[in-house]
Amino acid sequence: MNKIAVVTGATSGIGLANVELLLKKDFDVIAVARSENKKQALLEHMKPLLKRDSSLEIVMGDLSQTKSTLQVIEGIKNVLHQREVRHMDVLMNIAGIVSSGLHLNDEGNELTFATNHLSVYLLTTSLIPYLEQAKDPRVLVVSSLSHYRASINFRNLQNFKCYNILKAYKRSKLYNVFFVKAFAKKYPHLPIFAIDPGLVKTEIGLKNTSKLAAAIWKWRVSSGTDAYYPASFMVEIATDKTYIPFSGQYFKEGKVKKSNPITYREDLAERLWNETKDIIEKSLQKM
Ligand SMILES: NC(=O)c1ccc[n+]([C@@H]2O[C@H](COP(=O)([O-])OP(=O)(O)OC[C@H]3O[C@@H](n4cnc5c(N)ncnc54)[C@H](OP(=O)(O)O)[C@@H]3O)[C@@H](O)[C@H]2O)c1
Repeated sequence: MNKIAVVTGATSGIGLANVELLLKKDFDVIAVARSENKKQALLEHMKPLLKRDSSLEIVMGDLSQTKSTLQVIEGIKNVLHQREVRHMDVLMNIAGIVSSGLHLNDEGNELTFATNHLSVYLLTTSLIPYLEQAKDPRVLVVSSLSHYRASINFRNLQNFKCYNILKAYKRSKLYNVFFVKAFAKKYPHLPIFAIDPGLVKTEIGLKNTSKLAAAIWKWRVSSGTDAYYPASFMVEIATDKTYIPFSGQYFKEGKVKKSNPITYREDLAERLWNETKDIIEKSLQKM
């Protein structure tokens, strides 16, 4: 039986490249998509690879709200149950946004925080029973170099006060590293890794951004790599056993790198974990 990988953010950029490389390694991939057009385009793009011994199934859903993230989780479980499998080998949390201006979702959470951080917490913790059934499970969370320039302020976790596009993004990527460290401590039997993909030529900076921010992104990203470059290291980390002892660490180009010094503060990681859980519980009560 093939290994099973779940990939969020699968419809473009780094996620799409990972889906392709995982299919080439004969994984069965369950990809998360938020739009019908992108779903069709992904299936079309991957069609030639599906002649090989691998499959691609798409779960539709929006990861910017806890309610819809729960529907994504149910969709993933349904695919697994239909296949009569109870395990999931790899979970790649790749979906992410950068957003100009303060936008709140229906649950009152800031959009970048909800998409980049809350959904990672909810998806990963909800799928633990399936990861625990895998022989060699791995979880990857895509963070960013920008996390080095971020701080944590528990009185303004979601940047409601003084919202700034870059500050909100950097903080969400810092929270990704804290999440990875807290998860590694709580679930030492489930190897998890924070990934720094470097600067990658994708359209992330063009999607929820002002004209000015989009123009800056276009200029900046012209010196980036293509998405297959970080994806090749990510698939390596997801499949090579030598990475297992490095659970909880931050990786760039397949090598361990020291993350922002504050991410080593276990008290902060634990507090963020607990506050995230509370925010999710409160959001679900609003359903
Ligand atoms: N590009 C870089 O230089 C860079 C550097 C550091 C870190 N990263 C991180 O890498 C990850 C992937 O980004 P990318 O650069 O590959 O950008 P991208 O091409 O825009 O990919 C982002 C993916 O997330 C999906 N997504 C966004 N919001 C979603 C939502 N609410 N529900 C479901 N899916 C959603 C997008 O769907 P659509 O296709 O429908 O838009 C897309 O598939 C992000 O976490 C980003 O922070 C990127």
